[in-house]
Amino acid sequence: MFVAAVDRNGLLGVDGRLPWRLPLELQHFRRLTLGRTVVLGRRTHEALGRALPGRRSVVLSRTLGGPPEGCALARTLEEALSMDPLPVVIGGAEVFARAFPYCVTVHRTLIDHAFPAEGEAVYFPTPWPGPWTLEESVPETRDPHRWRYERWQRATA
Ligand SMILES: NC(=O)c1ccc[n+]([C@@H]2O[C@H](COP(=O)([O-])OP(=O)(O)OC[C@H]3O[C@@H](n4cnc5c(N)ncnc54)[C@H](OP(=O)(O)O)[C@@H]3O)[C@@H](O)[C@H]2O)c1
Repeated sequence: MFVAAVDRNGLLGVDGRLPWRLPLELQHFRRLTLGRTVVLGRRTHEALGRALPGRRSVVLSRTLGGPPEGCALARTLEEALSMDPLPVVIGGAEVFARAFPYCVTVHRTLIDHAFPAEGEAVYFPTPWPGPWTLEESVPETRDPHRWRYERWQRATA
């Protein structure tokens, strides 16, 4: 499954960082990922700056010399999936794009704002491969920007 937060334009990050600070959304991310294996790209790991507590982190990288502190290292997506066949893929853009064929559930936070995308902007992949069904949609209005939690399930033909 994927867990991703995007703005109105599908923006995921700018200059290696999240363009927003949404405390309740962070709590929501924590709830969805706690106790799970999270798979993330090397750049997202660098943005986080550490292994996420309470989760097993598998960092994808072809260039790192060894596993980052507190994390496992995988050279390919298949190697990451051999460590846990049902991980939570948490990005970034490159990892979402490569892992989409394996994904059946997308937990998407849709932030009701268009953030400036100056600098090096990365976006959630589009179009999504295959048909998807929206199974849950819950608004959240108490953060600095309104957002909506959506759960998308891959539709079986
Ligand atoms: N809004 C959100 O939900 C969210 C979530 C996560 C990240 N982000 C943002 O997204 C940005 C980072 O995304 P990004 O696309 O630039 O980078 P990324 O996907 O985090 O990392 C890319 C790196 O991961 C490694 N990698 C990717 N696919 C691989 C594969 N199949 N096999 C082996 N290694 C692989 C490569 O590392 P090497 O170069 O070391 O080989 C590649 O350079 C940041 O701004 C971050 O804040 C946003």
